Amino acid sequence: MDVKIVKDKVAGGQAAFELIKAGIDNGAKVLGLATGSTPITLYQAMIASDLDFSNMTSINLDEYVGLAEDNPQSYHQFMKDNLFNQKPFAHSYVPNGNAANIEDAAADYEQIIAENPIDIQILGIGRNGHIGFNEPGSDLKGLTHKVQLTESTIEANKRFFDKEEDVPRYAISMGIGSIMKGKQILLLAYGEDKADAIKATIEGPVTPDVPASVLQEHANVTLIIDEAAASKLSK
Ligand code: PGA
Repeated sequence: MDVKIVKDKVAGGQAAFELIKAGIDNGAKVLGLATGSTPITLYQAMIASDLDFSNMTSINLDEYVGLAEDNPQSYHQFMKDNLFNQKPFAHSYVPNGNAANIEDAAADYEQIIAENPIDIQILGIGRNGHIGFNEPGSDLKGLTHKVQLTESTIEANKRFFDKEEDVPRYAISMGIGSIMKGKQILLLAYGEDKADAIKATIEGPVTPDVPASVLQEHANVTLIIDEAAASKLSK
């Protein structure tokens, strides 16, 4: 794993943008995208750039189950607000959290990934080491599937909702196996509350207890982290 330590999240967004730009110059056509607060500075750098994504494809990691696409908290809406309205892609895929049958929607999504192999996958990381909605204990080879959110993720995400009861209890998420198919992976993390997860990801054993630790087994991973997120690393 290549670890780049940056001053802050603005520098991190710029560093991730430069890697994406280099990837596109080398022929990347499909970006795997993430939601959450972490990728916002990257999306701001993409919006501020003169890059055109209108011949590219994007594939998002996950979506809540049961929120309307235009719900302000849905990941469909997040991506429109933070990237797609300003920088449209030719095709943008986000899992369908409103499908009558979520298992069928998950299988369909895995087919989309098979047909559009992800060149560069952007990831955030949860305080518990989750990637996408793959919580501790997830199958390290899992594909897109329906997941039940853990209490810690509900707690972390409730800040975006009026009340905790409004946070969906289920999501549809690319699995760790789907994520590992990306040719290149950029994991971004900022702030001290990510420091334990980053230490376990880089220095700990590969274990389902820390889903991001499996990235140690991927051949092309860059972690872009700020000093606070790096603060518990031993070297
Ligand atoms: P955050 O979430 O970017 O809002 O910190 C990241 C994650 O939980 O994957």
